[in-house]
Amino acid sequence: MKLMDGKAASEKLKKEIAAEVAKLIDADIKAPHLVAVLVGDDPASQTYVNSKEKASHSVGITSSVYRLPAKTNEQELLDLVHFLNKDEEVDGFIVQLPLPKHINVERIINAIDYRKDVDGFHPMNVGKMVLGEPAMISATPQGILYLLKTYKIQTKGKNVVVLGRSNIVGTPMSILLSRKAEIGDATVTLCHSRTENLSKITQKADIIIAAIGQPEFLKADMVKEGAVIIDVGIHRVDDTTKEKGYRLTGDVAFDEVAKKASFITPVPGGVGPMTIAALLQNTLLAAKNNAK
Ligand code: GUN
Repeated sequence: MKLMDGKAASEKLKKEIAAEVAKLIDADIKAPHLVAVLVGDDPASQTYVNSKEKASHSVGITSSVYRLPAKTNEQELLDLVHFLNKDEEVDGFIVQLPLPKHINVERIINAIDYRKDVDGFHPMNVGKMVLGEPAMISATPQGILYLLKTYKIQTKGKNVVVLGRSNIVGTPMSILLSRKAEIGDATVTLCHSRTENLSKITQKADIIIAAIGQPEFLKADMVKEGAVIIDVGIHRVDDTTKEKGYRLTGDVAFDEVAKKASFITPVPGGVGPMTIAALLQNTLLAAKNNAK
């Protein structure tokens, strides 16, 4: 079994991004500017936004955060989105999810100028991605493609099983891996909560992408010998043996599955850092498009 080190791969990608940012600055183009909008005080979202800010600075991308109270109403958030759409200083922005329940997520995402939608969530970017046109691609699937490439994992003709059909990860992942592309050309099965005989399907998979949102869902008996396992989940589970009283775990029962896998991503340090690096890559792309 080999670990797929997302931290190392993301550092390599960030170096490439930093070099591109330096080139822009040498050409008298301003540094790319990424804005994150955070509504409310969800601790996980705060952690994500802080990590994105830190990573931006590490590659020379300017980063700002708009922190709005949880009671912000939909119109106020829409007004901010419209403002950011127009702000020429801003190349790309994200509205951190989840949003408070009284705000309609679809209406917010649809209001974002798709050219600044560095999350790749806008229907225009999703549509372009499906058609294989240049687009902002959702950061987690994009990071996973980079990780598969880094570790020279063959996807052509392989059976890939994606667990979970979210708009952010499962659905775009399944489309990207079935496209005609270097990291693509796979036969993809998208499984979800209504899938019957799930183990029979996962047992045939050469590559499994677990994005189902349940701690340690994927067990060793569901996996064939030599499979490649990508774990998108990140959960805090109680663990009294740890000083903090919890440990981080993914959607995969790591210890038992690792014994059968040829390659596997750890949690933390697997997909998470790749997602952030891919977001920076999208921001760079938006800035280059903006400078044209
Ligand atoms: N919440 C969890 N992951 C993401 C992400 O990739 N983008 C945004 N905007 N919110 C998230």
